[in-house]
Amino acid sequence: MIGIIDSGIGGKGIEKEIRKLLPNVRIKYLADTKNFPYGTKKIVVLHNILENNIKELSKKGARIIVLACNSATVSSVKYLRRKFDVPIVGVVPAIKPAAEATKTKNIAIFATPITSRSLAQDDLINKYCKDIVVYKIPFKNLAGLIERGKTDAITYEVIAVWRKYKDKNIDTIVLGCTHYTLIRKEIQKIVGKNVKIIDSNIAVAKQVKKIYDRLEEKNGR
Ligand code: DGL
Repeated sequence: MIGIIDSGIGGKGIEKEIRKLLPNVRIKYLADTKNFPYGTKKIVVLHNILENNIKELSKKGARIIVLACNSATVSSVKYLRRKFDVPIVGVVPAIKPAAEATKTKNIAIFATPITSRSLAQDDLINKYCKDIVVYKIPFKNLAGLIERGKTDAITYEVIAVWRKYKDKNIDTIVLGCTHYTLIRKEIQKIVGKNVKIIDSNIAVAKQVKKIYDRLEEKNGR
């Protein structure tokens, strides 16, 4: 069984891609809505929450854990990998593909506050964006609006924030929060079709499949 964790529905996009690659594998999706949002919590608090969630999924038989949440990954994946033997796959903003895609050399990253200010994201920026201007754009409430299905408020929020960046010659946007991948079409409508939007969902699913296949091989199946 593969266990997927997010603070709510955000990881559903990753789950969908995993199901395409591993259609016969059982998946348990833990939508941790009682601890929503992850993106504005303190790191130590997240460590604890995620530790408990991994324990719960492991007890139910998870052989791979997927942190289908950028906030959880950037804050806690290293800590959790030291604590648990079970393989843990995380998701981080797709900065490398964005750096390769941009022609104007201006990219934006939409993310939660915790991801926006994380060292993990800064490391990726320093590694891949040497000659690129990167606009880190934190959204405090967007994941919550998506969680609650507040369509009009979502549109309003994205328009209000994008207004400050739309003249910056940005041609590539990274969706650094899994919730935002669920409103990709709405974001595309607002930023226009000439802006490329990139997320990590397929890359994460491929990584999960790789680990799953390796485990199967090890078990001689
Ligand atoms: N889905 C989470 C992420 O990818 C964020 C949502 C939250 O703030 O809980 O960052």
